[in-house]
Amino acid sequence: MSHQHDTVRAIEWREDRLYLLDQRLLPLQQDFIAYSDAPAVAEAIRDMVVRGAPAIGISAAYAVVLSAIQHAGEDDWKSAVLEEIECLAASRPTAVNLFWALRRMRQCIEDQDAAPVDLLLAEARRIHEEDAEANHRMGELGAALVDSGDVITHCNAGALATGGYGTALGVIRSAFAADKIGRVYADETRPWMQGARLTAWELLQDHIPVTLLCEGAAASLMKSGRISWVIVGSDRIAANGDVANKIGTYSLAVNARHHGVRFMVVAPTSTVDMQAAGAADIPIEERDAMEVLGLAGKRIAAEGAEAWNPAFDVTPAELVDAIVTEKGVVLKPDAAKMKALMSKD
Ligand code: MRU
Repeated sequence: MSHQHDTVRAIEWREDRLYLLDQRLLPLQQDFIAYSDAPAVAEAIRDMVVRGAPAIGISAAYAVVLSAIQHAGEDDWKSAVLEEIECLAASRPTAVNLFWALRRMRQCIEDQDAAPVDLLLAEARRIHEEDAEANHRMGELGAALVDSGDVITHCNAGALATGGYGTALGVIRSAFAADKIGRVYADETRPWMQGARLTAWELLQDHIPVTLLCEGAAASLMKSGRISWVIVGSDRIAANGDVANKIGTYSLAVNARHHGVRFMVVAPTSTVDMQAAGAADIPIEERDAMEVLGLAGKRIAAEGAEAWNPAFDVTPAELVDAIVTEKGVVLKPDAAKMKALMSKD
């Protein structure tokens, strides 16, 4: 993979500060915000300065380091840090990577008498690096499933949403570099417009051609016969292979099955929640109605109209052709295959 297809980074740790690329401003402005305390990072996650399941987990891990730095000199440093871990856990409910990363960070302070800042920083860096490595591995595994044709992706499951390279966009990067993909169609992804604002920008930074479409146009595009795969990321995969992802993913999967288009979910095993038996156990975040009623901060809907704004939906396992993780690929997922995958080293 040449560097020209992998240039975007959204999370940096420098000199005891966490820097997050403000994704609310993309693509018009590319500004990093510096953070020095955990509650501010929790607010950044809630307000979508940083978003995407792995990126949320990585940011929260660094936020725990900030918390330890801030409270290191206090007698009750541990309760202060644990309280801020709870504050981070309350930021967004669906992406399980958040809780997975916080669990790893919490384990580092158990049995410690003094705040182990260096240990926590090493763990946060490991979470960050492991995610980027997993994405490269998934890129190879997923690209091997792609033969030729164009693909559709939804939301942004790219470098912006991860420690680097991306999950769905990692597969797309690898398949594009291998000349297996002609064009990427990106759903604009109402209401927050992750596709139009983030995926289009990210792919263009890396010289990968992208065509935007309203998600309502996806069925017609599939009918044209040009699309070989729908490739998406995930916020939480249940033990039976049901997949939570950005609202609209389920409808893409139904359309894909109808048109004989294959459906690939790309996610690290930190996204798999074996405690969730199936869709019913996955909490779905509902966000502010104004995200639907307005656009770019300006109201567009008729005054008096209400809005339902679930941020995610769940695609049942039977509509998924492949789940690609860093531990391997699961074709036609079910509970037994997910269990076998998760018991691999
Ligand atoms: O609300 P968002 O932007 O955080 O939603 C992001 C998604 O749904 C992504 O597809 C998912 O987190 C996977 S990111 C690699």
